[in-house]
Amino acid sequence: MLLAIESSCDESAIALFSPQQGIEFSTLFSQIATHTRHGGVVPELAVREHLQKFPELMDKLPVPLCEVKKVAVTVGPGLVGSLAIGMSLARAIAQQKGIEIVGVNHLRGHAFSPFIDLHAVDPENFEQHLAQKLPHLGLLVSGGNTLLYEIDRNAEGRLSIEIVARTLDDAAGEALDKAAKMLGLGYPGGPLMEKFAKEAPLQRTLDFSITPSFKNDPKRIAFSFSGMKTALRYFLQKQSLAQVEANKPELAATFQGAVIESLSMITQRVFRSKRGGYYRSLGLCGGVAQNSALRRAFVKIAQQEGLPLMDVRPAYCGDNAAMIAFAAWLDPHGLLDVGSFNPGLTLDNQNL
Ligand code: KG4
Repeated sequence: MLLAIESSCDESAIALFSPQQGIEFSTLFSQIATHTRHGGVVPELAVREHLQKFPELMDKLPVPLCEVKKVAVTVGPGLVGSLAIGMSLARAIAQQKGIEIVGVNHLRGHAFSPFIDLHAVDPENFEQHLAQKLPHLGLLVSGGNTLLYEIDRNAEGRLSIEIVARTLDDAAGEALDKAAKMLGLGYPGGPLMEKFAKEAPLQRTLDFSITPSFKNDPKRIAFSFSGMKTALRYFLQKQSLAQVEANKPELAATFQGAVIESLSMITQRVFRSKRGGYYRSLGLCGGVAQNSALRRAFVKIAQQEGLPLMDVRPAYCGDNAAMIAFAAWLDPHGLLDVGSFNPGLTLDNQNL
């Protein structure tokens, strides 16, 4: 059995995985309540909470530690202090039990998370099921990243990840969080934007729209959210506080709609840039993938392309250790040294 530890930002998480059973246990402690008071993640407080919560989480393990044969831990990207706590815990366990320890790239954890449930339904025949889904086009949308990537097996049989499109400025989650702040909705912004957007009137009342970046540049395969944020800021500057207050749902719906249109538009451009039938599945993962309007948009794209949508169950969208455990097993060639953490790691910088 493999034990995974994830502590890259503000979630303390552990999980157990075995190739025969899949994810056998996964739990986490979210620090959102602590950071909400400060309007964003405070790194020092994150470290303190990790230190307090990991012992409690370890007490919840449903099996004795002697059944754990390997430890996997996130080594980056993330906050330096947060990463260091998880890595120290993983090293201590590995040393005490005399077992192997491996480092996992947090982003590869997200990227492979659409396959966790594919494995869960039929662990024995997972390899055949996976082969039918590759090449896979995935969208990773979180607070720090917006990436379209392709997963395939290369000539040596290794899983390869290639970035197809990235953001030139903010990540989608970051843009939603900042827009929520401008609208005075609170933190974390993404879920609040979704909540307010759901209350928007069906018939729009405001003379306000946001054009997704690169809409008029049909060959461009990249994301950008800063212009959309500026459009919202300029509009808000012309409104009274009372007007903003009264129109929060509509403003949230307009901004969220533009973010989703942008994510969908670029994903569809990638499909059009390839010969028909090249991709065999579409994936959606990361914290923003919990957004139901985004999920609906991706269900539609998958239908249009005649592909299965491998979306991730909400518990595995935000930061969690299940995806770290799964990536440690699925992607042995992507494993990293645990000698030192790597806060700036990107999805594709592993010199595989
Ligand atoms: O993957 P994640 O938990 O953390 C990292 O960034 O690594 O993603 C967090 C992001 C935040 O920007 C948060 O606002 C966004 O995911 N998010 C959402 C929703 N739930 C979380 N965005 C839109 N709709 C949601 N329901």
